[in-house]
Amino acid sequence: MSSSSQASQQVPGSEFKEKLPLRDGFSTRLGVVLATLGSAVGLGNIWKFPTLTGSSGGAVFIIIYVISVLLIGIPVMVSELAIGRSAHANAVDSMRASTPNKAPWWLIGALGILSAFLIMGFYTEVAGWVFAYIFKAMSGSILSTSSEVTTAAFTSLVTNPVLSLVWQWVDLVIVGAVILFGVSKGIERVTKTLIPVLLVLLIVVAIRSLTLPGAGEGLEFLFKPDLSKVTASTLLAGVGLAFFKLSIGMGAMITYGSYFRQDQNISGTALRVAFSDMSIALLAGVAIFPAVFAYGFQPDAGPSLVFLTIPSVFASMPAGNFFMVIFFILTFIASIGAQVSLLEVLVSYVNEHLKINRKAATVYSMLGLAVFGSLAALSSSLLSNVKLFGLTFFDLFDFTSSNIFLPVGGLFICIFVGWVWGKEKFFAALTNNGSLNNQGFVSFLFFLIRFVSPVLVLLVLLNGLGVFS
Ligand code: PHE
Repeated sequence: MSSSSQASQQVPGSEFKEKLPLRDGFSTRLGVVLATLGSAVGLGNIWKFPTLTGSSGGAVFIIIYVISVLLIGIPVMVSELAIGRSAHANAVDSMRASTPNKAPWWLIGALGILSAFLIMGFYTEVAGWVFAYIFKAMSGSILSTSSEVTTAAFTSLVTNPVLSLVWQWVDLVIVGAVILFGVSKGIERVTKTLIPVLLVLLIVVAIRSLTLPGAGEGLEFLFKPDLSKVTASTLLAGVGLAFFKLSIGMGAMITYGSYFRQDQNISGTALRVAFSDMSIALLAGVAIFPAVFAYGFQPDAGPSLVFLTIPSVFASMPAGNFFMVIFFILTFIASIGAQVSLLEVLVSYVNEHLKINRKAATVYSMLGLAVFGSLAALSSSLLSNVKLFGLTFFDLFDFTSSNIFLPVGGLFICIFVGWVWGKEKFFAALTNNGSLNNQGFVSFLFFLIRFVSPVLVLLVLLNGLGVFS
């Protein structure tokens, strides 16, 4: 618990916290970085980044993503953490407490809750697949370099409605259990040890992948940009990925910021998290794409890509089956850190705002998600023909959250912090009331938040929605 240190410094908005019951918080500074990193690192790195890179033209897409992280992602992340730590409450109440007048900025928090629902809807399904793959890997049945074998294994899983639902719900129960242990105990402990292990394993896979005959083509795909592939939708997808990856634009970082200690360096934490997260995504790319080309998979295979190629890389490695089991276990654990932060947006709101105790709030949120998420879970089976705007529920939840809701949330957070919350409070929060020597960097961030990030997001959004064409 960090409540003693929270009382020692006054940060704008902190008056508000007295009105709230004592909240759990992250206990150490390293714990904070790791828990925040635990929210960022997840299926976004291992599954979504390769999926999108493969379907959006490779290197060009990666460049758009990296630029988006730097010019949009980091400023939005810093803004959210600052608001959350200053107001010390869930996303909706933090926004309300930070608004000087009666303007409805809390709607950003409400939009975040909606986004959390949409993301959890499909995320729990993919996490369920990963969980199922732990057992498939144990049985040895997917250890193959033949695309027929790996494709059949994946298809038999996703087209089976019962299995899809069961794995999704198993995942939800696990995430709910982690949440019930509380913020510092549950989240910190899980993330602290396992992300480094996942990193090591990814490096091993990357080395194997890079040494496969024919790997060069994959590297070229990843690092040699073909500018003709830049389209309105790749731009939007790149920006959307930056939001999704950093868990921003939907209040997760406001919520996590509210658990930050008052002596935490917010911008330093955001930078470390953003760079580590980006490196893990790129590493996953290097682990997967050389193998995609070496074994003749299609880079634009979509959501199945990782589930087809990863087993092939392991199949060409000594003790491959053993390492594959570990890989899926670690990926699943990484996905829990992310899901916990998504669920935490819901639970902290239901708990603090609707005044329902934490346990019940967690159970209600999970039940709601089990029902809602089943629409995504059944998208490859019973509901495969049900489409809205030409997309199955799975794709619709994915597309609307990453490509619309998160960027819109981020846009309004920039406008709010840059123009309403204002320079004084932003500086007080980011310099810890002048005790950190980072004024120059904070001024630069504030400039990005006011003028650069919102304009870029707005242009990419309008362009992506076809307004300029
Ligand atoms: N950043 C997480 C990932 O990459 C997903 C996430 C999005 C988590 C939004 C929280 C909020 O897997």
